[in-house]
Amino acid sequence: MAGFPQLRLRRLRRTERLRALVRENRVDAGDLVYPIFVVEGKGIKQEISSMPSIFRFSPDQLDAEIEEVAGLKIPAVLLFGIPEQKDELGSSAYAPEGVVQQAVRRIKKSAPQLLVITDVCLCEYTSHGHCGVVVGDQIDNDQTLPLLAKTALSHAEAGADIVAPSDMMDGRVKAIRESLDKDGFQQIPILSYAAKYASAFYGPFREAAESAPQFGDRRSYQMDPPNIREALREIEQDINEGADIVMVKPALAYLDVIRQARNAFNCPLAAYNVSGEYAMVKAAVKQGLMEERRAVMEILTAIKRAGADIIISYHAKDVARWLQSA
Ligand code: PBG
Repeated sequence: MAGFPQLRLRRLRRTERLRALVRENRVDAGDLVYPIFVVEGKGIKQEISSMPSIFRFSPDQLDAEIEEVAGLKIPAVLLFGIPEQKDELGSSAYAPEGVVQQAVRRIKKSAPQLLVITDVCLCEYTSHGHCGVVVGDQIDNDQTLPLLAKTALSHAEAGADIVAPSDMMDGRVKAIRESLDKDGFQQIPILSYAAKYASAFYGPFREAAESAPQFGDRRSYQMDPPNIREALREIEQDINEGADIVMVKPALAYLDVIRQARNAFNCPLAAYNVSGEYAMVKAAVKQGLMEERRAVMEILTAIKRAGADIIISYHAKDVARWLQSA
């Protein structure tokens, strides 16, 4: 007996009970990371126009948001900082009283169980908006490494649970690992944005974080979208340098990269459902083109099906809420 009419694949789709019994992939609130933008100052809670329902918070305004995230059983937040002062070397990124450092302390006080992951990069802090030190018209790799290491260390000192370098300089995982270990932070994991592509889908983020490059673009450090073998080399290199978790970013246009990374490596794999992916869904829903809940669940489930263990998403609070009510 091999085929129709004995074989009928529709048998297992007949009711929701049956479908649930044979379901291969599920999104769980425990897989999610919620990104939060923190802006220097006081009394600020400001919606980002390109990302409906996503706000910039000053550290003193974070408590309610954090309580909500923790209450939804989302295990972690990922912090991005928008400083008051920007300069050539991004010095607000590694200032002990920098905005991320303040936010980390505040969150660890109000919700000690919530994991705080910090984005380690210079682009929000540099006057030129690049992720590294600019020399002439180039982004200098090796001069950037100590600044990233200093930033990661200051986040750890403030109480960050995980540091997440997103700059795409060569050797930054090694530099960060060495600096954390030297100062007694051997237990702090590194989540590396290992295969991060130069993507149009970061557009809304750059408005949110005020981090658009003032000249040129990021293509000399972020990856060229057509490449997948190179992504595997980037990931392998970061694992060899000591990354504990690796990330593919963006997610939707790179599901094949997520799948191949899952097959090739055994370390935990994260995928970033980025700002442009979020904004597209929100815009389509606003126009009545699709149902938000179904579209978002389909996208996040696809990212899991591709092989991601962890999903960083601006939809995380909505998803956790829907899962609770399901
Ligand atoms: C910083 C950084 C970016 C994102 C995360 N970290 C922007 C960029 O590289 O230009 C994008 C996140 C998103 O679009 O949601 N380097």
